[in-house]
Amino acid sequence: MQLLDGKQTAQAIKDEIKSTVAEMTAEGKRPPHLAAVLVGNDGASLTYVGSKVRSCEQVGFQSTLIRLEDSISETALLDEITRLNKDSQIDGYIVQLPLPKHIDAGRILMAVDPKKDVDGFHPSNFGKMALDMQAFIPATPFGIVELLQRYQIDIQGKECVVIGRSHIVGRPISILLSQKGEIGNATVTLAHSRTQNLAQLTRRADVVISALGIPEFLKADMVKDGAIVVDVGITRVADDTHPKGYRIKGDVDFDAVAPKTSYITPVPGGVGPMTIAMLLKNTLLARQWYHSA
Ligand code: GUN
Repeated sequence: MQLLDGKQTAQAIKDEIKSTVAEMTAEGKRPPHLAAVLVGNDGASLTYVGSKVRSCEQVGFQSTLIRLEDSISETALLDEITRLNKDSQIDGYIVQLPLPKHIDAGRILMAVDPKKDVDGFHPSNFGKMALDMQAFIPATPFGIVELLQRYQIDIQGKECVVIGRSHIVGRPISILLSQKGEIGNATVTLAHSRTQNLAQLTRRADVVISALGIPEFLKADMVKDGAIVVDVGITRVADDTHPKGYRIKGDVDFDAVAPKTSYITPVPGGVGPMTIAMLLKNTLLARQWYHSA
């Protein structure tokens, strides 16, 4: 069993981005600028956005955090989006999800300029991605692909089961793994809450990607010997023995599953850090593709 070390790989990617930014600024160019919109005070969202902003500083990006009240109207949030679309100093931005219930997230994401949509959530980017065209790829699936690539794991022709059909992870990673390409050409099954006999599917899979959000869902008897397991789960579980009062748990029963695998991502330190690194990568691409002035 080999660990797919997302923390170390993400650091390598951030180091590469940092050198590119240093070259840009040495040539007198403006560094990439990422903005993040955070509505309300959800604890997990605050942590993620804080981490994204700190990572910008590490690589020499400019960053702006826009915090808005939970009670903001959809119209006022759309006005903020319009302002960000027009701001020529901002290369890319994200609207942290989830949004409050009274706001239609689909309408907000549709309003984001696709050229600044570094989350890759706009239908234009999602559609282009599915058609193998140049597009922003959502950071988590992009991170999974990058991690497999950097460990030179060949999934061509392999049976791959993705658990979870979210727009952010399951759906896009299922598309990417089945595409023609360096990382791709896999035979992909996309399983979800209505799937019957899931264990039967995962047991024959060469690669299992779990993006479900149920702690320790994937047990040892659901995985075949030598499988590659990618755990996208990051659920907070109450734990009084921890200073924060909670622990982060993945979808995989790691201690039991890991010994059976050829490669496995830990939680934390697997897919999570890769997601942030790829958001930075997308922001650098936004600067290079669309905002080179
Ligand atoms: N909420 C959970 N994951 C994400 C993400 O990748 N981007 C945004 N904007 N919100 C999220």
